[in-house]
Amino acid sequence: MNAPAQPAPVPRHLAIIMDGNGRWAQQRHRPRLVGHRAGARAVRRCVAFCLQRGIQALTLFAFSSENWNRPQEEVSGLMKLFLRALEREVDTLHQQQVQVRFIGARERFDPAIRARMQAAEALTASNTRLVLSIAASYGGRQDITAAARALAVEVAAGRLRPEQIDEERLGAHMALADLPAPDLFIRTGGELRISNFLLWQLAYTELWFTPTLWPDVDAAVLDQALADYARRERRFGLTTDQIRSLAPEPHP
Ligand code: IPE
Ligand code: IPE
Ligand code: MG
Repeated sequence: MNAPAQPAPVPRHLAIIMDGNGRWAQQRHRPRLVGHRAGARAVRRCVAFCLQRGIQALTLFAFSSENWNRPQEEVSGLMKLFLRALEREVDTLHQQQVQVRFIGARERFDPAIRARMQAAEALTASNTRLVLSIAASYGGRQDITAAARALAVEVAAGRLRPEQIDEERLGAHMALADLPAPDLFIRTGGELRISNFLLWQLAYTELWFTPTLWPDVDAAVLDQALADYARRERRFGLTTDQIRSLAPEPHP
């Protein structure tokens, strides 16, 4: 087989719904929390993978705004796990030159967790090798709603006219506004839905689903997603002929 003329494109920004922890534990007749712990180990593998493949931004859905409605025992177990991960992992991430950020309604977390989140962001703020955004207490609809509210405040204060509101201005108030939109979205665990993840930001993202449960995810699974992504033609509304005559690939 001939070598490809160009190296396969690697996504700049990868966004993942890490689903299937509970089922992974249930298959082993263990409490769901055991699955969440195994899921945390998969996060480490995933970060290492992104560093190795030169992916610049990784956004992980860790806890949705809807997940607060899970049984209280599971929520408090997840909070403990989250706090422990913040205590244990941030130094390593910093050494790996990873910039850590959190998106979502952080006021809903305990002060101890909020303080750790802020400390992690402050410590790693100038790292540039990989931007790791953790979506925690995040909801895509809330993200859009908050952006709309921010613009409404500007209008009410007379600093903005309604006709000045466009996609760019609205998008600028949303999470991850300073990053390129996700190129590739992965959902593990077999469900074929977005579950209120990055609704605005995923408008032209390539979607990839796998039945593999999140705790079982390794480099082989992620490489499969990247290989499929490299074969996709991203048209952004144009025709194939237009895309081929354009180089390099356009991004919205
Ligand atoms: C994803 O795994 C992790 C969180 C939502 C916190 P789940 O806990 O949803 O696992 P399943 O879908 O029940 O298997
Ligand atoms: C989505 O998973 C949220 C996270 C992975 C954090 P869920 O397991 O909560 O999604 P649904 O409820 O099955 O759609
Ligand atoms: Mg789930």
